[in-house]
Amino acid sequence: MAPPLATAARPLRVAVVGAGPSGFYTAAALLARKDLAVSIDLVDRLPTPYGLVRYGVAPDHPKIKEVVRVFERLALDPRVRYLGNVEYGRDLGLDDLRRYYDQAVFAVGGQSDRRLGVPGEDLEGSHSSTAFVAWYSRHPDFLDLPVDLGGEAAAVVGVGNVAVDVARVLARDPGELARTDISDDALAALSASRIRDVHVLSRRGPVQAKCSPPELKELVELSGVDLVVDPTELELDPGSRAELADDVQAQKNLEILRACAERGLTGAPRRIHLRFLVSPVEIAGEGGRVRAIRVERNRLEPGRDGLAARGTGVFETLAAGLVVRAVGYRSLPLPDLPFDERRAIVPNQAGRVVDPGTGARLPGLYVAGWVKRGPTGLIGSNKPDGAETAAAMLADLPGTVPAAEPEAAAVDRLLAARGVRRVDFADWQRLDRLEVARGAASGRPRVKLGPIAEMLAALDAGDLEPVPAGEAQPKRPVM
Ligand SMILES: Cc1cc2nc3c(=O)[nH]c(=O)nc-3n(C[C@H](O)[C@H](O)[C@H](O)COP(=O)(O)OP(=O)(O)OC[C@H]3O[C@@H](n4cnc5c(N)ncnc54)[C@H](O)[C@@H]3O)c2cc1C
Ligand SMILES: NC(=O)c1ccc[n+]([C@@H]2O[C@H](COP(=O)([O-])OP(=O)(O)OC[C@H]3O[C@@H](n4cnc5c(N)ncnc54)[C@H](OP(=O)(O)O)[C@@H]3O)[C@@H](O)[C@H]2O)c1
Repeated sequence: MAPPLATAARPLRVAVVGAGPSGFYTAAALLARKDLAVSIDLVDRLPTPYGLVRYGVAPDHPKIKEVVRVFERLALDPRVRYLGNVEYGRDLGLDDLRRYYDQAVFAVGGQSDRRLGVPGEDLEGSHSSTAFVAWYSRHPDFLDLPVDLGGEAAAVVGVGNVAVDVARVLARDPGELARTDISDDALAALSASRIRDVHVLSRRGPVQAKCSPPELKELVELSGVDLVVDPTELELDPGSRAELADDVQAQKNLEILRACAERGLTGAPRRIHLRFLVSPVEIAGEGGRVRAIRVERNRLEPGRDGLAARGTGVFETLAAGLVVRAVGYRSLPLPDLPFDERRAIVPNQAGRVVDPGTGARLPGLYVAGWVKRGPTGLIGSNKPDGAETAAAMLADLPGTVPAAEPEAAAVDRLLAARGVRRVDFADWQRLDRLEVARGAASGRPRVKLGPIAEMLAALDAGDLEPVPAGEAQPKRPVM
């Protein structure tokens, strides 16, 4: 009789697809069970781990990226292997995962963006925040995004933390960005930028702003920038006053905004205009390029999920040579897995993938993070989320069908036969050192490698210092 799963004689083999925060936190929760033997392959389509911590968290927020030290320790656990540059749907399919792993968790985040659904959305110069952020973070898929900062004004749609990041990066003194790990191309473009006015457009009122108070305060304190707030847009309707009463974040935001409106302008060379109760109705162009954004003034009315914006028929046109639509990320369907198009998640119950039609479970398949619950939440929110998924996986152990070929070497043979150049964690550590060394030469925390081919060439050239097996990097700038 075969030994039971998750015992020393037959460790549980798990594939975690996606090495972002949710993948790492799910792995951490599985590894925390010292009474069980677990062996995890962390698979990522990129050679580089850490998902949005590397390619999303703003370059001028280095402290937040220090969470990678926790993830690095996990990746160095002898029970974990990193399979970078391996993409689910390209290099490995569902049949492969079922053959080589007892359970698989999809933690692939949100790779795309929500649409605004207005005319002109696809004009040149109109970008989703998914693309724009990836561009300034030097994500391999967005190196050639045609970003033109030659106009004097830009519009950012949405007032979540991503919108605030984008507005800050657009308005910040490039001299300050030059000390970060921002992409060289973005730094050059921002240094030559002619943008003086950034309009941040919120469809609802200040009480409904999704951004958090520290991020809002940072905008107020940005050197060389005035945050412009129209006091009349801070006046609250009865519904907003009721919402405010038990929303501490909204109370703090409103206090910051009121103080800002009272303080007035200092005559700073650049301005961020925080506008409330306006919805884009059209992105207007000329010669195929964005020239302006037309907005409609809103009022708030009770809707299905709290107060909703309703157009008033009053319109305004703002000149803008760039529009960044920061209205949310969106997960994409994964080959051979069900997908809920409306919520843009893989349908699941507490992390267990289910058939949306019948509600029946798809045995052995799980989800975590943004593809499980939608594209909201801080890095830390993925910890309880991953723990919930891990708990479901372990609770399901008795009914789990063992994989036919659970040996780690079997999946390596398959990838080799398919010509996949797998990047392991020691490889990543060598790339990491190279980036940090390149940064040190120019007084920056790191200079990121861009194209995947460039990363693989650096590894295969053989002139990178080897990293002693299982050793954490010395204390160094992260990401
Ligand atoms: C612009 C931005 C800035 C943010 N800043 C902060 C911040 O300052 N502080 C904070 O607390 N939170 C921040 N967040 C939120 C935080 O980044 C998310 O909560 C978190 O990254 C979500 O984790 P995830 O693992 O679900 O997804 P992700 O981080 O997106 O990770 C998904 C991983 O899956 C991989 N992948 C995708 N498809 C495949 C495939 N087919 N095969 C293999 N691998 C695949 C990707 O390459 C990626 O590495 C920010 C989010 C954004 C968008
Ligand atoms: N520093 C940080 O801690 C940090 C930085 C970046 C991101 N994050 C986190 O990452 C997650 C994702 O952030 P996010 O900013 O992408 O999402 P978000 O917080 O959900 O904000 C999305 C914004 O877009 C607006 N919006 C949505 N659809 C719209 C439409 N059709 N027209 C106009 N506006 C529209 C929303 O307004 P409504 O409220 O009206 O829907 C909201 O203002 C969040 O949890 C965020 O906190 C954290």
